[in-house]
Parts: sequence; C-alpha cells; structure tokens
Amino acid sequence: MQKLTKTGTWSILILTIFFHSSFCIAAKNYPTVPYPVIDYPKIKNPELVKKGEYLAKAGDCIACHTDTDHPGSPIFAGGLGVDTPFGTFFTPNITPDKETGIGKWSDKDFIKAMHDGLNPHNENYFPVFPYVFFNRVSKEDLIAIKAYLDHVPAVNYTPPKNQVSWPFNVRLLQWGWKLLFFLPDSGYFKEDPKQSKQWNRGSYLVNGLEHCSMCHTPVNVLGSWKKSYFLAGGIVDNFPAPNITSSRLKDFSVQQVMDVFLKDQLLGGGRIVGPMLDVNHNSLRYLSKEDLESIVIYLKTVKSKEIPKPKIKSGAQLGEGIYDAYCATCHAVGSAGAPIVGDVPVWETRIKLGLPTLYHNAIDGINAMPAKGTCSSCTDQEIEAAVRYMVDESKPGAKASSSYTKIPTAMPAPTVNLAHGKEIYEQACNTCHIDGKFGAPKMGDKKIWAAIIKQNMDVLFGHTIQGYKAMPPRGNCTSCSDTDLMDAVIYMVQQNKEEGDFILW
Ligand code: HEC
Ligand code: HEC
Ligand code: HEC
Ligand code: HEC
Repeated sequence: MQKLTKTGTWSILILTIFFHSSFCIAAKNYPTVPYPVIDYPKIKNPELVKKGEYLAKAGDCIACHTDTDHPGSPIFAGGLGVDTPFGTFFTPNITPDKETGIGKWSDKDFIKAMHDGLNPHNENYFPVFPYVFFNRVSKEDLIAIKAYLDHVPAVNYTPPKNQVSWPFNVRLLQWGWKLLFFLPDSGYFKEDPKQSKQWNRGSYLVNGLEHCSMCHTPVNVLGSWKKSYFLAGGIVDNFPAPNITSSRLKDFSVQQVMDVFLKDQLLGGGRIVGPMLDVNHNSLRYLSKEDLESIVIYLKTVKSKEIPKPKIKSGAQLGEGIYDAYCATCHAVGSAGAPIVGDVPVWETRIKLGLPTLYHNAIDGINAMPAKGTCSSCTDQEIEAAVRYMVDESKPGAKASSSYTKIPTAMPAPTVNLAHGKEIYEQACNTCHIDGKFGAPKMGDKKIWAAIIKQNMDVLFGHTIQGYKAMPPRGNCTSCSDTDLMDAVIYMVQQNKEEGDFILW
C-alpha cells in the first residue's frame, strides 16, 4: 500500500489544480440545522436513544442528510446535492420511513452500511458517504445511532438520482477503490494501551464519527486520503482546511483550540466561516467539554509529513506567487464572501483604506478573512507582497480586471474520457512517444511503462504539466488545457498498462 499513499512534491500542485472541490462537500450556506425534538418520556429505551442522539451529532449526519440548500427541507430526509469531482451525489433519506427511508432496515443492515460501506443488496456505497471513517465506530455505538434514527420523524421523500459520470458511477468498480484504499486498513477502533483513556477517546472521535480527516487531509486524484499527510491540511469547497496536527497546534493551548469549536475563532485570528462553521454548529457544539478536550489532546500528538510548500515565484513575482498558492482559493472565487481579485468596484472602497490597513487586516485577520489567509508559515513581508499584487490586479484597467483569470473552480473535474485522451495524445504527444524520441518512454513498451505507472498518478500529472528531464512542460502543447493533458496521460497509461485498470490504483 505504501506506493499508493506515497506522493511526490506535486501533490499540492495537483491538489490545487484538480481538487479545488474535494470529496467532502457540505451545503453551500452552512446553516445550523435544528435537531428534531424527541419525546423521551414516551419511548421504551430512552437511554439508548439519547446516547444515539449524542453520537449522531458527533457524526454530523444532519449536515449531509438534510437538504440545507433548500431551507425548510425535512431533517434527515436527504436530497442534498454533494458535488464532487466525479459528479453530484444526492444523499439518501435516513428517516424511519418504511418506503423511502431506512425504516425496514435491521440493525445488521445499518451496521453493514456504516461499517462495510455496503447496502442491503451488498452493493458498494461511494466513499462520499464517510463509511471509511464510520468503520471505526464500535458496534454498540452504531446500534445506538440506529435506535436514535428509528425515533426521528419519518418523512416520505425520495431524493433525486446521483448524477455521476462513467466510470465513477459504477458501484461495482468501487471494489477497486475499496481494495486499495479501504480494506487494507479497516476495522473497529482499537485502543492504544500505551496512551491515556482521554487520548484514546479523542482518537476514537477524530478518526471515527467526527471524520475530521475528510476535510483536513488532502486527497489523491482518485479521491482517497493521503495517509502520510493525515490532518496536515486539505481543501474543501474552495476553503483551505488548515493543518491541525501537532506541528501547528503546539503553539496553542488546549483552551485556545477548544475556542475554535466553541467561539468560532480561528487560531491565528479571524472568524471561522464555511464548512467548519457547519461542523462547529451542527456537531462539535453538542459534545461534552471532556470529549472536546480529548479531541484536542489527541490532535496535539498527531505527527504527519508537512505538506510540501508550493514553489513560490520570487523577486518581483513574489506577491503573485503567494497569492496563487494561498489566497486564490478564496479570492479568485469569492469563498466566504472574499472580495474577488479583479472586481474593481468591490476593491475600490477597500483600496481607499490604504495599504497599511489592508496589510494589517490580511496579517491579523478580519471577519471571515483568516489571519495570513491561513498561511501560518508566510512572513509578514510575503503577505504584504500578496496584498500589493491583489490591489494592483484590482485597480481600474488592471489586466485581470476584465476576466478573473485565476478562477480555480473553472478547473476541470477528473472525469475520464479516453477517446479525447487519444485525440490529444495523437495531436501532441505522439511525435516523441511513438518511437521514443529524446528518450521518451515508447508507447507499447509495457516494461518501461510499468515502472513509470508505479509512481502514482499524481506524479505523472505533475511531470506532464511541469516537465521532467527531457520531457518538456505540457509536452510542448500550449493549446492543451489541464484536462486535455490529464486525459492524454490516462490514455497513455491505459494503453501501456500490463494489467488491471488505472482506476484500481
Ligand atoms: C459528508 C456527507 C455525509 C455525512 C457526514 C454522512 N453521510 Fe450518510 N451518506 C452520504 C451519502 C452521499 C450517501 C449515499 C452514498 C451512495 O449513494 O453510495 C450516504 C448513505 C448513507 C446511508 C445509506 C442509506 C441508503 O438508503 O442506502 C446511511 C444509513 C447513512 N448514510 C447514514 C449516515 C449516518 C448515521 C451519518 C452520521 C453518523 C451519516 N450518514 C453521515 C453522505 C453523508
Ligand atoms: C466539512 C469539512 C471539515 C470538517 C469535517 C472538519 N473541518 Fe476543521 N476546518 C475546515 C475548514 C474549511 C477550516 C477553515 C475555516 C476558516 O477558514 O474559516 C477549518 C478549521 C479548523 C480549525 C482552525 C484551524 C486554524 O488554523 O485556525 C481547527 C482547529 C479545526 N478545523 C479542527 C477540526 C476538527 C478537530 C475536526 C473534526 C472534529 C474538523 N475540524 C472537521 C473544514 C472542516
Ligand atoms: C478562507 C478564505 C480566505 C483566504 C484563504 C484569504 N482571504 Fe483575504 N479575505 C477573505 C474575506 C472573507 C475577506 C473579507 C473580509 C471582510 O472585509 O469582512 C477578505 C479580505 C481581504 C483583504 C481586504 C481587507 C480589508 O480590510 O478590506 C485583503 C487585503 C486580503 N483579504 C488579503 C488576503 C491575502 C494576502 C491572502 C493570502 C495570503 C488572503 N486574503 C487569503 C477571505 C480569505
Ligand atoms: C519533445 C518530446 C516529447 C513530447 C512532445 C512529449 N513528451 Fe512526454 N516524455 C518525453 C521524454 C523525453 C520523457 C522521459 C523523461 C525522462 O524520464 O527522462 C517523457 C516522459 C513522459 C511521461 C512519464 C513521466 C515520468 O514520470 O516518468 C509522461 C506521463 C509523458 N511523457 C506524457 C506526455 C504527454 C501527455 C504528452 C503530450 C501532451 C507528451 N508527453 C509529449 C518527451 C516528450
């Protein structure tokens, strides 16, 4: 499994290019959803149901299984469109309605879904349902959650069908994904006897129901989490989800980190917005002080590889470099209400505040603008350079002002289009790769390609886009978009693989 999780320094590049929308995507407006009121005195097993309610809150089931894009939608009845690079998934109805919900499910069916990612017909769920994390949850806790769901109001409602393109829509293919990413490392949570009770409780929550990793760990091109960068920082809905391992948290007290959850305060400064707000309000706020403390105590011991810093242009281009790497996630698209760079009228009033004020606000954070745009390793000078760049690009007549050129969400989703890949290959790559010109790996030479393919998709995309030894950047194809190149690489891999399917790695 090592090679699958091993990543080149390109991971960040690829991540920012292809995964601006990552796997875990909550509702657009991140509202707080009211939990249904359960009439405890009237039910048979109030203790079990109460426990289940607490755990369901820890799992934030409500955020995905309620269509919060349409206010007033029935709680737990599903229908929320979850956008992923593979298409849109609509969450199912998990109310106890017998026809459209899970009212007919036995505890066994429920455990199979949550623990194994299989529906009652033994078909695979897509990992957009965080069963990979719920897999760690104990059987007793799952039974309690089921007991709770049996007591929420039943709603007769069938959510829309998933709109996912081939081959990602094939439930059978998920076996490949499972074989590689899930099964080798699955199973109920095991306590680490060397650690304290509190640490183990924190680990159980973070790695299980709370699924923090879904957003705070970067994903690879096939939508699996990179274990070596566990909690080292990801991107979700165009929001950077910062590093929450020991390397970042060591500078803050347990209470300061708990204030992130309880007071919506970012560590460096600035207010929490976006998907984390939803996690705070629908889930973490309901946890006991002891559980929150356990979570922080555990996080403060997590050691992961640091995500390689993107190569930043220096000199006159320093500001642009910092902007591209750290600020564009929000400022190119307006996440969290960030003023879009190049949007002249919006910047006009801000520019009037004067550079010193803008520097100050960018460094210390203001409202939904996180301190230093969450780049805790950036120096003040780097942030100031980025601010100058943003201001220059947002003045009347600036080159970016007509078209917001750096909109990352305009980047393609990695759907697979082999026919298109072939076309691009023949147009742009054939010249060298057909007969091995300049030492290019020859098409059809499966031996040579076996070693190349082993490197992992991320590396291949990275090498193609940036160039690698005698391989020119983008294969010299200036008219090719990133999707074109990606399709071409997938086509080349598909043609030269010895066995299996690229989807299986
Ligand atoms: C990040 C979003 C997300 C969260 C959080 C989430 N789910 Fe889901 N869940 C999904 C999606 C999407 C599916 C459908 C997957 C598919 O179609 O393959 C699903 C499927 C299910 C199913 C199968 C239903 C059926 O009809 O087949 C159950 C049961 C379920 N979830 C329960 C839960 C519970 C309980 C929680 C909280 C502990 C939870 N989910 C949290 C997204 C989520
Ligand atoms: C749905 C995605 C998502 C999930 C799940 C999630 N987070 Fe976050 N988290 C984010 C985002 C995005 C931010 C940045 C928020 C901002 O910029 O306003 C963040 C911010 C944070 C911060 C503040 C970091 C800083 O530098 O100030 C902490 C701490 C944190 N999350 C911890 C957690 C923990 C612990 C869990 C699990 C219990 C968790 N998060 C689950 C998306 C998520
Ligand atoms: C998580 C999203 C996010 C990221 C990342 C981000 N910003 Fe912001 N930024 C915002 C939001 C939201 C505002 C608007 C804050 C307000 O005025 O309420 C803002 C406002 C600003 C302003 C105007 C401040 C003012 O006083 O009007 C500057 C300058 C700025 N950001 C610079 C940066 C720089 C430089 C970076 C990268 C190092 C960055 N931002 C990264 C969200 C973000
Ligand atoms: C001018 C010649 C040339 C063109 C045109 C060209 N390549 Fe290459 N390519 C090379 C060479 C030479 C190598 C071997 C680099 C090495 O490992 O030394 C290579 C290697 C590769 C690799 C393997 C990289 C690795 O990690 O080992 C991929 C993938 C690739 N090329 C994709 C493409 C694609 C896609 C195109 C078309 C868009 C393309 N190439 C066009 C010369 C070319």
